[in-house]
Amino acid sequence: MEIFFEGIVLRPWTISDASQLALIADNKKIADNLRDGLPFPYSLKDALDWLNLILPENHPPRFFAITVDKQLVGSIAIVSKTDIYRKNFEIGFFLSENFWGKGIATKAIKAATSYAFRDFDIIRVYAESFSDNTGSRRALEKAGFRHEATLQRNIIKNEIIKDSCIYSVLREDFKSLPIEVKV
Ligand SMILES: CC(C)(COP(=O)(O)OP(=O)(O)OC[C@H]1O[C@@H](n2cnc3c(N)ncnc32)[C@H](O)[C@@H]1OP(=O)(O)O)[C@@H](O)C(=O)NCCC(=O)NCCS
Repeated sequence: MEIFFEGIVLRPWTISDASQLALIADNKKIADNLRDGLPFPYSLKDALDWLNLILPENHPPRFFAITVDKQLVGSIAIVSKTDIYRKNFEIGFFLSENFWGKGIATKAIKAATSYAFRDFDIIRVYAESFSDNTGSRRALEKAGFRHEATLQRNIIKNEIIKDSCIYSVLREDFKSLPIEVKV
């Protein structure tokens, strides 16, 4: 299955993506902005372990490689929440540093959110960015998410206490976009 939107394609991960994933994710500037589950340095084994974890449960797909001209350039995932939060997806993403600043994350967020509301019975998609992560916050805003809250001193990253920001969009507020989904 592939999701086409404005020149980018989201497709489910395959195990053969491991080496390229490791190349992209082995970047301190990426790790510094994500949860500790993504380590730095990031090895081929880390990539293989993660792919082996998510691939068996990726039906229907929720973990996507972001590709441009068939080249793997990043990762985006819509993660289902459970219990009383089960009508929510959390969206998370990162991009190869070589491709920053070209609007690719904004397009990927728009495409994944359109797919989420199209194919799943959810009412809200949200993201959590560190408050100093201007690029992520801006990409989410450009994709139609609104700044819902700043959680003060909510996280500790690299032994530094920081605020985090919740961005969200509700089904009724999200402008449906012309994604093309090929099964
Ligand atoms: C966050 C990230 C995904 C953004 O990807 P991207 O493709 O460069 O994002 P976009 O180009 O779609 O949008 C980024 C916007 O932020 C702006 N921006 C980026 N860094 C900025 C900074 N330090 N100060 C001000 N604006 C900044 C860009 O100019 C752009 O806005 P514009 O189009 O109005 O000029 C990428 O930087 C990344 O992978 N970072 C590390 C991992 C990460 O932070 N993931 C998100 C965790 S919540």
